Amino acid sequence: MAVTDVRPATPADAPFVRATLENSWATTTVAVHGELIDATDGPALIAWLADERVGLATYRPDDTGWELLSLDAILAGSGVGTALLTALTDHARDHGARRVWLVTTNENTTALRFYQRRGFDLVAVHRDAVAAARRLKPEIPDSADGIPIRHELELERML
Ligand SMILES: CC(C)(COP(=O)(O)OP(=O)(O)OC[C@H]1O[C@@H](n2cnc3c(N)ncnc32)[C@H](O)[C@@H]1OP(=O)(O)O)[C@@H](O)C(=O)NCCC(=O)NCCS
Repeated sequence: MAVTDVRPATPADAPFVRATLENSWATTTVAVHGELIDATDGPALIAWLADERVGLATYRPDDTGWELLSLDAILAGSGVGTALLTALTDHARDHGARRVWLVTTNENTTALRFYQRRGFDLVAVHRDAVAAARRLKPEIPDSADGIPIRHELELERML
């Protein structure tokens, strides 16, 4: 099964965007680098397989580069995440961005593997940053996969 299309989210996608974020991250907000960001406020890309929505990327373009706020594959391991990341990177490059960057957390070894295999470089480790994030967003769990969630890892890909 291959993703047939990646398209910018429209108002018709709002229920999917909200449900996907809440399902993966408990709320639509992302707590990173000391900020609480509502990912529904900004742009998003949706991956489609035929007439079904199978993935979501939310992001925030800024002067220093485009920040990927969330990436979720409803159908894991089928190329959805790669298709979204490729589309986001192409889109950022077309708009003159110099880098795409993101923050993930230390327990997310799937994400760390995924991004590094796709040209992203680990540029910073913010030790114990999740304690501050948890004050902004108490829904962040203490651990996952038996690993305490403590540190923010910043990855970037220069364009
Ligand atoms: C990270 C994520 C977006 C990848 O999306 P995906 O559609 O599964 O990715 P793809 O199918 O394009 O590629 C999957 C790659 O990850 C591996 N993979 C996918 N799911 C995996 C899993 N559950 N465990 C381990 N590896 C996995 C595949 O083997 C493949 O590896 P490759 O580099 O050899 O090709 C997806 O796993 C996901 O939604 N995770 C939960 C949310 C999350 O952690 N997002 C990232 C932080 S913002």
